[in-house]
Amino acid sequence: MLTISKMAAAVQPSATLAAGAKARQLKAEGINVYDFSLGEPDFNTPEHICDAAARAMREGKTHYTAASGIVELRNAIARMYRRTYGLEVSPDQVIVSNGAKHSLHNALAATVGPGDEVLIPTPYWVSYSDLVQMTGARYKLIPTTEASGFKMSAAQLRAAISPQSRLVMLNSPNNPTGSVYTRQELEALADVVLDAQLGVISDEIYERLVFGDAKATCFATLRPGLPAQTITISGVSKSYAMTGWRIGWALGPLHVIKAMGNVQSQETSSPSSISQYAALEALESDQTCVEEMRREFEARRDLVVKRLNALPDIHCRLPEGAFYAFFSVERYFGRTLGGRKITDSAAFCAAALEVGHVNLVPGSAFGMEGYVRLSFAASREQIERGLDRLAEFLTSAT
Ligand SMILES: Cc1ncc(COP(=O)(O)O)c(C=O)c1O
Repeated sequence: MLTISKMAAAVQPSATLAAGAKARQLKAEGINVYDFSLGEPDFNTPEHICDAAARAMREGKTHYTAASGIVELRNAIARMYRRTYGLEVSPDQVIVSNGAKHSLHNALAATVGPGDEVLIPTPYWVSYSDLVQMTGARYKLIPTTEASGFKMSAAQLRAAISPQSRLVMLNSPNNPTGSVYTRQELEALADVVLDAQLGVISDEIYERLVFGDAKATCFATLRPGLPAQTITISGVSKSYAMTGWRIGWALGPLHVIKAMGNVQSQETSSPSSISQYAALEALESDQTCVEEMRREFEARRDLVVKRLNALPDIHCRLPEGAFYAFFSVERYFGRTLGGRKITDSAAFCAAALEVGHVNLVPGSAFGMEGYVRLSFAASREQIERGLDRLAEFLTSAT
């Protein structure tokens, strides 16, 4: 008789993936669904990166690699941090994993366990809480508000720290809000972190997708003491439209990266050799493709925010990064839409999908009731038509 372990039973299926399943069902029925639920670029991986992968295969680079990744890629990652942020890391302080999510998992597995507490500002990316729970540690949520740009203040962080607190998880640019912390805001958090000797996991996966005056900051660079306390996470998934290749990385103190390497070596061995060579090409070749995609996302952001703010009882703040708009639908609570009573963000999204055929993700999936997330990883034409649909759906409000 097989029973399910306590750990596995506590893991929730990803809410964003669940929303995708219902949308797929409607699409299979021949319904034209405008899908704004996706957490990945809609672009294909640039040609020269695919060519590098094909080359690697033909050259016989099809074997296991070092469990922590090929040294050429770890070197390239270290060089990228030096070049972009002035952060000095040796290739031994870098581990390449099967996507940033895997790096996050290994970072948590290597540093926390039962009895430990991990601080997570909300709203947060759906996977953080489950990844923490899988280690046996507990998480404590630190709620933020739209008034603060969905950002945690230094005072909030300080107040949340308990004797059990081991780590805080930062994510800027942020999924789901698109918020980008300023350097000053991060410096204030850095001082609290140093004071409390708190570890940091800084998820910077959207670092290349920032708009207007916003700048991505590498948290570990902000104070001399931070590299010893920070695990920086990133990868090629979002910047290079390479979600399916499954390449992410972590960098941090040598003993932590070593422990993560041990976990990974028993868990999955190395990430795909072919994907690693593709990622190497992505990092080392001309970066024009990144800028082209970034510019397109910025144009879509402007379009989405303009269209959303023209809708009745909707206000959307301007996201400074990533490819998500996060806005309140609270003014529809207690009313009906498409004949359905709207009680919360999940009910709003279910009605929007099933009646309006527009797929959004409820804020409750990100620990923030009252809001919904719209991904603008969709063409401008899709955005225009989908927002026409959403506008029409909202006219059904009673
Ligand atoms: C904040 C955040 N971190 C990490 C990831 C995971 O990235 P990867 O596909 O490289 O595992 C995502 C993907 O949606 C994300 O939004």
